[in-house]
Amino acid sequence: MYDVMALRSEFPILDRILPNGKQLVYFDNAATSQKPSFVIDAMNGYYTTYNSNAHRGAHTLADEATTALESARASIASFFGADPSNLIYTSGTTEAINLVAYAWARRNLVEGDAVVLTEMEHHADIVPWQELSKEIGIELRYVPLDLQNMCLDMDAFKHALDGAGLVGVVHTSNVIGVRNPVEEMTKLAHQAGAKILIDAAQGASHERINFTQLGADFVTVSAHKMAGPTGIGGLLATNEVLSECGPFLTGGQMIRSVSTDGSVYRDGSALLETGTPRIAEAIGWGAAVEWLSRIDFMEMHAHIKRLALMAFEGMNAIDGITVFSDPRRPDSNGTISFLHEGLSSEDLAMLLDEGGFALRTGQHCAQPLMDALGVASTNRISLWLYNTEEEIQSFLDHLGMVCERFGT
Ligand SMILES: Cc1ncc(COP(=O)(O)O)c(C=O)c1O
Repeated sequence: MYDVMALRSEFPILDRILPNGKQLVYFDNAATSQKPSFVIDAMNGYYTTYNSNAHRGAHTLADEATTALESARASIASFFGADPSNLIYTSGTTEAINLVAYAWARRNLVEGDAVVLTEMEHHADIVPWQELSKEIGIELRYVPLDLQNMCLDMDAFKHALDGAGLVGVVHTSNVIGVRNPVEEMTKLAHQAGAKILIDAAQGASHERINFTQLGADFVTVSAHKMAGPTGIGGLLATNEVLSECGPFLTGGQMIRSVSTDGSVYRDGSALLETGTPRIAEAIGWGAAVEWLSRIDFMEMHAHIKRLALMAFEGMNAIDGITVFSDPRRPDSNGTISFLHEGLSSEDLAMLLDEGGFALRTGQHCAQPLMDALGVASTNRISLWLYNTEEEIQSFLDHLGMVCERFGT
């Protein structure tokens, strides 16, 4: 049985009383998730007992730090069904996509090659490609949304593949919560001779992604959205594409030898990690995947869907609210974007904050999607494994009250 109260008790922050005396209700999980004590303790343990640099030095602490860093890599890679040598630590999804753009695409795409993106992409999967396009003349193609069904237009995707060198697609939209058919898109991209990058920043906290089974060339993730700390994430990349990469950030750690005449680099994933590693963060992320491995993701998904449907029905019944997401879709992760016809998204967010509700407001780093929806911004609730029915009910009551009182 899914015991939400037992899960909640592992997240100290969820007991927080805000300065205005309200109990925190945290609905901003797509921005960053909260962290269980298990993760916080693992990071504290490193800093209080074996803080040291890794892969340098021959003392006990250095050994312990190195072992912890690499055993975290093994746990994280295994969580994603990958070999540790295919996981490169980055600061998160943004840096991972930049790494693909600068270490792989800059060397393997040429002027006129197309990079196929979608209107649903986060800016992290748009701006690096715009920059690279200025530099090497790649053509950017954006697959539009099927607005009727609130999903990608798959016919347009198939057409866009002609002459493509790379596809970059978001696994699950951070705005409308739609999970894209990434398995089918991977097959189609490969049939067309293109590589594919899947931005799983949102997907990784809602389903168990298996890198090997998925078969994509690149998958990018952020630890902080899946119970881990900020400051770390990863690029999962196949041996084939890793062998085609050149250096991006250069300096210590990624070298075999350096002389005043030049340097010899390491290869594979080791080429792409430079400088002192993110040791505490990797240990925290390793603890997060260990903690998450105990969760039945199917049960978690069913729980979140139940809450999202309750929120969806309740919000649709409130005068003036337009909901842009459809959690009734089987491929929805329950993230709901909405707007009030009379209140700006900022005003509505402030009024909800007064009730203790933490949710996201703005363009969600997805301006092309906002343009496609014909809005400048939305309010967004994004749920995770510790949210409860009571929280949804109190949110609906507060939203209803606010809209009635201020919404004309
Ligand atoms: C779909 C998606 N891609 C990329 C990112 C960027 O992730 P990060 O800021 O952790 O690098 C986010 C963050 O919200 C996201 O939701």
